Amino acid sequence: KDASKDDDKKVIVMGTNAEFPPFEYIEANEVVGFDVDISKKIAEKLGLELVVENMQFASLTAALQTGKVDFVAAGMTNTPERAEEVNFSEDYFTASQVIIVKKDSDTVKSKEDLVGKKIGVQLGTTGEIESKEIEGATVESYDAGYSAVMSLVNGKLDAVVIDQKPAEKFVEQNDKIMILDEELTKENYAIAVNKENEELLKTINEVIKEIQENGEYDALYEKYFGE
Ligand code: ARG
Repeated sequence: KDASKDDDKKVIVMGTNAEFPPFEYIEANEVVGFDVDISKKIAEKLGLELVVENMQFASLTAALQTGKVDFVAAGMTNTPERAEEVNFSEDYFTASQVIIVKKDSDTVKSKEDLVGKKIGVQLGTTGEIESKEIEGATVESYDAGYSAVMSLVNGKLDAVVIDQKPAEKFVEQNDKIMILDEELTKENYAIAVNKENEELLKTINEVIKEIQENGEYDALYEKYFGE
């Protein structure tokens, strides 16, 4: 039974795509991660129970617009294009797009080398948008970043363009691949809400500010990104 549709239960629904460690991923059948912990603080502040809706990354803004979810916490980059469809909170994380290649391949050593290459990305992400700008590149979009990484490992791609922190997790799990030093972009993550929901946006911004000031943000950072 879908808890979000249960009216007498006081819940708030977070939309995400749990293919993005350590921000959101599945562990023991549960969606966990940095974004989930921040979202729990938002729910706590409102005295509501957090419900997590896991879906395609590309469906998240639509889910906000149709009211299927109350907010989106998904390592989502705050871009001007998206800001036309949803409202963003204050930025809560500085990120970048990086290039993953196979260690034994010497075709891609810098971002210039991506010209004309076959690049894997996650569908609907800034990595996809950025890769499509590269001259002559063939961009293959996957439902999950990890599927793109597997294709790279299997020799079907020249590179994968994806956010740095998930890239580090994927590389940790696979000794055949590595991340190039040169970054493709600098971006900021923010939480998204429906344009009509000014009240919730205000609360989310308060929570972000509070946890940054009281040390809870640093504790979460240490938990998920510490050595
Ligand atoms: N930061 C990138 C973007 O906004 C990728 C986010 C992917 N997030 C996820 N939960 N799969 O497009």
